[in-house]
Amino acid sequence: MQRFDQTSTADQVIEGISLENTHAVVTGATSGLGIETCRVLAGAGATVIMVACDGAKLREVKEQILLQQPEAKLRAQRMDLTDFGSIHRAAAEILLCHSAIKRLVNNPGVMACPLVRTAQGFEMQFVTNHLGHVLLTGLLAPALVDATPGRVVNLSSAGHQFAPFNFSDPNYNGRDDDKGQSYGESKTANILFTVGLDARTRALGLRAFAVHPGVIATNLSRHKGDGDYDTLMARRPAAGAR
Ligand SMILES: NC(=O)c1ccc[n+]([C@@H]2O[C@H](COP(=O)([O-])OP(=O)(O)OC[C@H]3O[C@@H](n4cnc5c(N)ncnc54)[C@H](OP(=O)(O)O)[C@@H]3O)[C@@H](O)[C@H]2O)c1
Repeated sequence: MQRFDQTSTADQVIEGISLENTHAVVTGATSGLGIETCRVLAGAGATVIMVACDGAKLREVKEQILLQQPEAKLRAQRMDLTDFGSIHRAAAEILLCHSAIKRLVNNPGVMACPLVRTAQGFEMQFVTNHLGHVLLTGLLAPALVDATPGRVVNLSSAGHQFAPFNFSDPNYNGRDDDKGQSYGESKTANILFTVGLDARTRALGLRAFAVHPGVIATNLSRHKGDGDYDTLMARRPAAGAR
């Protein structure tokens, strides 16, 4: 069996695998890991529905991938995870064109941003990193089940070590703002969602996985200020207590 480690590239992992005649929905397709995920899945032959909130960025990334891979089958879909109406519209448009979706990669994230609540009252990291993914997954579930064996991949993080999930006040209505704590809670939520989803859909052939991608220099750290990294790391429990 082929073995991979931290030095393996995505191209090496996917080498020899054909994803022809399958469809993958990748959210957060306009930056960092999302761009790379779209590029690699499309390179293996999948039709990739690239999802993100900024239409201009989506067009730009799509063109970049097509320059490298003119045969890539790509479709751009706008969706803002902080707006449930936008998620409903995007899911409906995706389902209109694709009745079977083999892979859903719930990838977008924001990290350590200041406390902001969306128009619908949700704390920004909680809704972008977790709640929006839950809604999108639920709306696309019929197409994921139809593509059996379907796969949901949720981008989690080692950030779950920063904080357990706070079930009584996920939106920080009664607590002081703590952007590192909030990121950790949202990443713990990713894992709890994955475990719960997999338990509920496994019998239908739909499996869910949570993936910590490692530490990669992307735009994720755009909100991080001096000292934030040390503050976050100090939250981690001692080795052996994780
Ligand atoms: N990079 C790391 O070291 C690392 C480590 C552990 C876990 N992760 C996880 O990996 C995932 C991807 O992170 P990344 O490093 O690739 O981050 P990134 O470069 O900042 O990319 C995040 C993506 O999410 C999109 N996004 C942000 N808010 C959104 C919203 N409201 N609706 C729809 N899309 C939205 C962004 O769109 P715009 O381009 O328009 O902003 C962008 O495409 C995240 O879940 C993160 O927690 C990353």
